[in-house]
Amino acid sequence: MRFLSLALLSAALVASADAAATAGNIFYGNFVHSVNITNLEYVGKGAIVVDTAGNIIQVERNVTERQISQIGDKHRVSITRLGDQQFIMPGLIDTHIHAPQYVFTGSGMDLQLLNWLNTYTFPREARFNDTRYANDAYNKVVDRLIRGGTTAASYYATIHLDASKILADIVERRGQRAFVGKVNMDRNSPDYYIENTQQSLKDTETFIQYVLGKKNSRVAPIVTPRFVPSCTSDLMRGLAALANKYNVPIQSHLDENLDEIAWVKELHPDQPDYTSVYDAHGLLNNRTIMAHVVYPTDEERKLLKQRGAGISHCPNSNLSLRSGIAKVRQMLTEGQKLSLGTDVSGGYSPSILNSIRNAYFAGIARSFDHPEDKYLQLPEIFYIATLGGADVLGMKEQLGNFVVGKKFDALIINPSTRGSPIDLFDHDKLNTIFEKFINNGDDRNIVEVFVDGKSIHRL
Ligand code: GUN
Ligand code: FE
Repeated sequence: MRFLSLALLSAALVASADAAATAGNIFYGNFVHSVNITNLEYVGKGAIVVDTAGNIIQVERNVTERQISQIGDKHRVSITRLGDQQFIMPGLIDTHIHAPQYVFTGSGMDLQLLNWLNTYTFPREARFNDTRYANDAYNKVVDRLIRGGTTAASYYATIHLDASKILADIVERRGQRAFVGKVNMDRNSPDYYIENTQQSLKDTETFIQYVLGKKNSRVAPIVTPRFVPSCTSDLMRGLAALANKYNVPIQSHLDENLDEIAWVKELHPDQPDYTSVYDAHGLLNNRTIMAHVVYPTDEERKLLKQRGAGISHCPNSNLSLRSGIAKVRQMLTEGQKLSLGTDVSGGYSPSILNSIRNAYFAGIARSFDHPEDKYLQLPEIFYIATLGGADVLGMKEQLGNFVVGKKFDALIINPSTRGSPIDLFDHDKLNTIFEKFINNGDDRNIVEVFVDGKSIHRL
């Protein structure tokens, strides 16, 4: 068996050496990833072979040091050797983040959604008509996310065309994988932060063309109506037409807060519920990402499932803004596409590790009064932070775990760096080291970040 698997490994390396001047990279050491929603796989002495285009071309388990050296020497493949306590894991995926709100993340946490938007969010987002300010803020937030291990994100920018382009440029330059959306708002918004319908559509089309014009496989535009209360029916229909015309995804907010839901009911009394408003305007399909979904009715969940829309669970935000606790167990049981979002800065932390921890605690808190809603287990939460995120981004076949044919978007974790928040003991095996990192680790342990096989950050 071992002979056969090494023979296959050699064959793959020869093939890739023939195909390109250099054969790429072998990552040799421990790795941890989701196999499916209930199973994590812990691999010791693994080999993940990545070609120059960043594709995983071979995955092996239990390979000895001598064997890997011989293979590396023979084929002149560079080998990245991990230390015994280090491990590789898939990059984290944030399916809902407002890049401009990073400027006040961790502050202004005293209000609920609608007052919070008017008091803190809109005045701060309005500043992004200043491209120098935008450039500084967007460099900082993208850098922060990459250092925190977020290899792919779905960003909201602001209503401003120029600043939105700057965010797409920065993501491209830094090598992160992302959807970037210019936000649309043409009603119920302050006069210093509102668009006219036609200009909003025109700027959105220009933005889509600009990002598609990059012809960069890692950066794509996403149509971003802020939420129903801030978009007229004409705007929503026009945006749906643009999403269709350019075949791009859609993102928005849904069923986040009870006052918001009541407002949507007032604005659209003809529709049975909030989800149906999006659906009636052509905005709900299998490439739509809806954030929050704290209070969906049975009919709404059915409609979301029917359309194949993805959900971004944002537990830090739902607790920070006192919105509520999403019924994540129910949504998972129903087979909804579920992922994690930081919702900076409704959520105060830009880290998906923080989202993981909040998802865990939100589920535990809900289970006290609803024991039928069993709180999520670590494999389930890690799944939604990686493979689930890939699914919601429409990239489950390309991202989320270490499988031949997928992209190598990955993190190297070192639990023992200088200043590490984790301490290890001689009884700590790989599963314990992994859990310690998930629950207590941070940027100081994320020693290298890869997207498409390229290193985009190194400590
Ligand atoms: N609903 C509409 N806009 C926003 C926003 O910026 N953040 C959150 N959490 N919800 C919203
Ligand atoms: Fe949000």
